[in-house]
Amino acid sequence: MRRFCFPKLRLSRIMGLIQFILGGLVIIVSLSSLFRFYSAGFFLENEDICRQFYGPSDGVMGFDVQALSARVGEVLEKMEALQDKLEATVNLIDKNKEASNGGSISKLEYKKFLEEEVIQPLYSAHIALRQIRLPKVEGLGNNTTVREEPLINTFIIEEIRKYLSPKENRIGKINIYGTEKIYNTIGHACVLMKKELEEYMDYDIASYCKDDWNLAQKLMINGCDPLPRRRCLTRASKLYKKPYPINESLWKLPDGGNVRWSNYQCRNFECLSSKNPKRGYSKCTGCFEMEKEKLKWITNTSLVVDFLIKDVLAIKPAEIRIGLDFGVGTGTFAARMREQNVTIISTALNLGAPFNEMIALRGLIPLYVTLNQRLPFFDNTMDLIHTTGFMDGWIDLQLMDFILFDWDRILRPGGLLWIDRFFCKKKDLDDYMYMFLQFRYKKHKWVTFTKSKDEVFLSAVLEKPPRSL
Ligand SMILES: *[C@@H]1O[C@H](CO)[C@@H](O)[C@H](O)[C@H]1NC(C)=O
Ligand SMILES: *[C@@H]1O[C@H](CO)[C@@H](O)[C@H](O)[C@H]1NC(C)=O
Ligand SMILES: *[C@@H]1O[C@H](CO)[C@@H](O)[C@H](O)[C@H]1NC(C)=O
Ligand SMILES: *[C@@H]1O[C@H](CO)[C@@H](O)[C@H](O)[C@H]1NC(C)=O
Ligand SMILES: *[C@@H]1O[C@H](CO)[C@@H](O)[C@H](O)[C@H]1NC(C)=O
Repeated sequence: MRRFCFPKLRLSRIMGLIQFILGGLVIIVSLSSLFRFYSAGFFLENEDICRQFYGPSDGVMGFDVQALSARVGEVLEKMEALQDKLEATVNLIDKNKEASNGGSISKLEYKKFLEEEVIQPLYSAHIALRQIRLPKVEGLGNNTTVREEPLINTFIIEEIRKYLSPKENRIGKINIYGTEKIYNTIGHACVLMKKELEEYMDYDIASYCKDDWNLAQKLMINGCDPLPRRRCLTRASKLYKKPYPINESLWKLPDGGNVRWSNYQCRNFECLSSKNPKRGYSKCTGCFEMEKEKLKWITNTSLVVDFLIKDVLAIKPAEIRIGLDFGVGTGTFAARMREQNVTIISTALNLGAPFNEMIALRGLIPLYVTLNQRLPFFDNTMDLIHTTGFMDGWIDLQLMDFILFDWDRILRPGGLLWIDRFFCKKKDLDDYMYMFLQFRYKKHKWVTFTKSKDEVFLSAVLEKPPRSL
């Protein structure tokens, strides 16, 4: 075989080119240093410097110096790495020259080197510099404020930056919400999961998204919640069939073909049975078994902590119409309440099993929320909040306090809070009881029951009093 031969390049020409590139680098590095000075306030007027350094906060009012200098720092690192690489390469060329005679490289190798080792890093550094958004100066004449949109400089992926940029109204007027622009929001902990978020937002606009709901859920659970919206098409099961009619769907295991199973241990609904030790989830074992689910809340159990739906509804005849079921489950509570003409929204996370799909395929409403967020309901709107299966002795007391106050907020006066089989260590019961009792709700039912040697159950139905302040 004959190797294709390229004309040899002269070392001096290569050195000349590399010197030229290094010169360019120096310019860029100095430019980015200027940005760093700028970010530290060197180019600002005296007054502005005062605002910079002695302002009320380091970010919100002025601009986010930290994010900006982090971005500039990133670019500087890139440039330094590139410079090191180029210098090392030049040294290598020198060495080779001593070792072999001539010390020349082929044109192809040279081109490849330039493309991969020089032009690409240079390009990405260039883009990173271009992306730094300097704060907009608002106002006229001597009355100016420097304002940066929060978080934008924290991210590099263009799609995140586009998402975060406030969208001004098109006709330059105040919109129906009474604002000049719309802010898309993300959870503040997104900045701690930059890598994952950037992976999540790395897609081609209008093409198919990756099948990465589990990455999304991981981000959400870790505080990147709300997640940014995406502009890609979500995938669906190839085998998707229309759901069963509502008179059948409520109590029938759905068709497994309607779910994408790729991120679960199971591949169909039958596999999620409690008898299977490898089903992939641990909360609410048995809640994919319709025969067991059918008994809940309508048949007497031996446990005093299990109240029946009819008994609870009898507390407020014909008053309970809408509510929230906050817990882990497959929507059975909502299904039973639907039979009583009560509309229940069930919270659900896909922790090891497709809980959201299951609830929706049954013809009920899943609400995909984590514990992080204030509930998306207005004050004094819900007739009922039912909670089971998720809140137990693991939960931090202060977190629980914030959650309970949020529930109190959305519950209407005269609405019912049904705590269903809350359990905790015996020694913690007093703390938790205090949490529930602090709201001075009317006690309709209140039962504790020994679960095991050192654990207790608590079930209660409490009524929010009128608040006429
Ligand atoms: C700057 O502020 C002064 C008062 O502090 C005002 O008289 C002057 O007109 C302002 N200049 C401009 C350009 O707005
Ligand atoms: C600057 O202008 C804004 C309105 O654009 C005004 O609310 C603010 O009081 C002004 N600040 C000073 C120092 O004049
Ligand atoms: C459900 O309702 C449809 C008509 O609405 C009926 O044809 C069907 O037999 C019903 N199914 C059951 C199980 O009752
Ligand atoms: C359940 O228990 C109640 C009393 O607690 C009783 O009135 C009712 O008949 C029982 N229902 C069934 C189905 O056993
Ligand atoms: C629910 O509403 C339907 C239609 O309005 C009615 O026929 C039915 O009796 C109601 N069920 C209950 C338990 O109130």
